[in-house]
Amino acid sequence: MDKDVFKQFRYFLKDSVRKRVDFSQTDQNRGIAPPPIEKPYPADALRIDLLKPGELKKIPRMDLATAIRNRQSRRVYRNEPLTPEEVSFLLWATQGVRGEVDGGHAYRTVPSAGCRHAFETYLAILHVNGLDSGVYRYLPLSHQLLYEFSEEWLSSKLVNAAYGQPYPGEAALTFIWTAIPNRMEWRYGLAAHRVIAIDAGHVCQNLYLACEAIGAGTCAIAAYDQEALDRLLRVDGEEEFAIYLASVGKV
Ligand SMILES: Cc1cc2nc3c(=O)[nH]c(=O)nc-3n(C[C@H](O)[C@H](O)[C@H](O)COP(=O)(O)O)c2cc1C
Repeated sequence: MDKDVFKQFRYFLKDSVRKRVDFSQTDQNRGIAPPPIEKPYPADALRIDLLKPGELKKIPRMDLATAIRNRQSRRVYRNEPLTPEEVSFLLWATQGVRGEVDGGHAYRTVPSAGCRHAFETYLAILHVNGLDSGVYRYLPLSHQLLYEFSEEWLSSKLVNAAYGQPYPGEAALTFIWTAIPNRMEWRYGLAAHRVIAIDAGHVCQNLYLACEAIGAGTCAIAAYDQEALDRLLRVDGEEEFAIYLASVGKV
């Protein structure tokens, strides 16, 4: 491979880009209002209340060192549904809002550059007690699950979108994180994209650890067919697009 091509792609990992950004010209510094913290939804959309952290009575206590020690990518799952309580816990652990929402930003259970939190969390649900199979979206501000749509052959479409990797089709559910880059670009301009990618790691690591606590397992998936997955999620692929997945099931 041409060395210059490597150089060009490696540049993405470097923060040298920051020196090229005229921060006085970012949307934030030009006084433009920040984009919404959470993707808007229709007023009549079906929303399901999730259990709040203080209401999670059946989530076992596991000390952090044990969760860290046991964590591994788990690709084989038992044929057992997750409970709504477990789903509430996983969503809170990965993108839950902690504390007050302050104007354009909300602090969460994971860090994010400039507290911009450029992700939306979709759940492709196959087996969760009391929930129909389909695609849902987490609403961190109200800690609810938004029903997006049902999808015929959801499990095989997930497998196809993951280039034939079978675990999303055998999982109880799959997390699919999308990026809305404008949320980060508003503050950082062209220096936004590197930190979006870094942020995704924090979210998925919390999912790994939280899964250990509930006798579940997850496997991060970054190899997927971009266009097929964006189509499946019904996102436009430009202002919002899939960035990372993780299948989840009991182990
Ligand atoms: C960014 C990232 C992308 C990954 N993508 C995939 C993937 O597409 N398919 C897969 O089976 N595993 C994937 N994995 C899981 C890795 O293969 C796994 O973390 C690695 O083999 C180490 O194993 P461990 O997680 O059990 O420590 C990914 C992990 C990360 C962090």
